[in-house]
Amino acid sequence: MPATILVGSQWGDEGKGKITDFLAERADVVVRSQGGNNAGHTVIAGEEEYKLHLIPSGILSEKCLNIVGNGVVVDLEVLLSEMDQLKERGVSFDRFYLSDRAHLIMPYHKILDGLEEEAKGDAKIGTTKRGIGPAYADKVSRVGIRVCDLMDFSEFERKVAQVVKQKNVLLTKVFEKEPLDAAEIIAAFKGLAERIRPYVADTSLLLSEALRQGKNVLFEGAQAVHLDIDHGTYPFVTSSSPVSGGALTGTGVGPTSIDRVLGVAKAYTTRVGAGPFPTELFDGTGEELRRVGGEFGVTTGRPRRCGWLDAVLLRYSVRVAGMTDLALTKLDVLDGFDEIKICVGYRCGEEELTEFPASLARMEGSRPIYETLPGWKTDISGCRSFEELPENAKRYIARIEELTGAGVSVVAVGPKRDQTIVRKEF
Ligand code: GDP
Ligand code: IMO
Ligand code: MG
Repeated sequence: MPATILVGSQWGDEGKGKITDFLAERADVVVRSQGGNNAGHTVIAGEEEYKLHLIPSGILSEKCLNIVGNGVVVDLEVLLSEMDQLKERGVSFDRFYLSDRAHLIMPYHKILDGLEEEAKGDAKIGTTKRGIGPAYADKVSRVGIRVCDLMDFSEFERKVAQVVKQKNVLLTKVFEKEPLDAAEIIAAFKGLAERIRPYVADTSLLLSEALRQGKNVLFEGAQAVHLDIDHGTYPFVTSSSPVSGGALTGTGVGPTSIDRVLGVAKAYTTRVGAGPFPTELFDGTGEELRRVGGEFGVTTGRPRRCGWLDAVLLRYSVRVAGMTDLALTKLDVLDGFDEIKICVGYRCGEEELTEFPASLARMEGSRPIYETLPGWKTDISGCRSFEELPENAKRYIARIEELTGAGVSVVAVGPKRDQTIVRKEF
């Protein structure tokens, strides 16, 4: 496994944390490249469950270097408290680094995330309200505050005072709220700056050194292709680039270093927040998927919307992220179903769509076209090799491969580390 980019293939929560932790055994470096603490990645190691938001899921591996890259937006308070909680559980941060070019989520970003959502009324996106969108917007508007600014505190003070002045106009004149006190914000960051200082580095340099030495580097994606700012169901997306390209710009590594792209796909589909979801089920089957799959958000606790696997959506992800392989997770959740459906197209009036349209208006009123496969009605959570899987489960996997054009190299049959079948070695 030289340099592998791991990408979510649907709308997030596919089990990227579990697969990253599993592959971390073979990796020397695990790096996060985008998103922030809108992510919630679950890792189960032995009897211990960890819910990671900003810390890469390689942190539980003894030898791995863990990096938060420049493309991540960092809520420093959240990062430090996540580190503290993990340290209390015996996790070492000796090999942890934060990019000096990463942007900070500031208090006004969180306030504005809430206010902007409220102002949208019925058109709200259903964000995690962690300040992600406003932080990325400031980065692109060139008024963001970076980790390197914080390391030079007088520069930090100057920039924050300037931006707060601008934000206060927005807060008071547009949203009719109280202004913020820049001095208070600056003071709160003083202590945080000193606590994070030992971990700050030029992480692109660390990565290029590791790659030059032939080390195995795993890029842990957050969110997913259909939440991507360019390729997702815009505007119901996050504000970063979870596709493979984002892993490069978000870490300062060039495309020539990458050997493979592993898409993580759930054996069915879920989505948190608003936006189109063609195969969403509103009946007992949807309820059953939510119950058996434990489909509640790791970050916000919201119930996830559930539905059958959408092969059109998945084929799109394979294409735009250049996925070379798929890791199919939560196959065990389908154990009890008599029949399993796969969406192979959409009926849109008289038209049949075989590709996901750009316009969400076109998606409205269209219905999924399903293919039905027989279930396997067997507990597969104890299977440890592909051969042990029931024939109907193998048939389901083969059909996914045919429909998406990508091979399924990894199959997860439960949340634990050892409940993972590797079909093609990394
Ligand atoms: P991520 O955001 O992509 O890392 O995924 P989440 O952690 O938000 O959600 C995935 C959930 O499914 C977590 O509760 C995992 O423990 C669980 N999970 C991962 N893989 C499997 C699997 O193969 N089977 C089952 N039953 N649960 C799984
Ligand atoms: P992981 O990495 C699922 C969704 C939110 C909302 C939209 C925009 O755990 O898969 P944001 O706060 O990013 O501006 O919200 O994106 N969203 C996720 N959904 N998993 C995630 O991360 C998500 N991160 C953001 O629910 O619909
Ligand atoms: Mg998640």
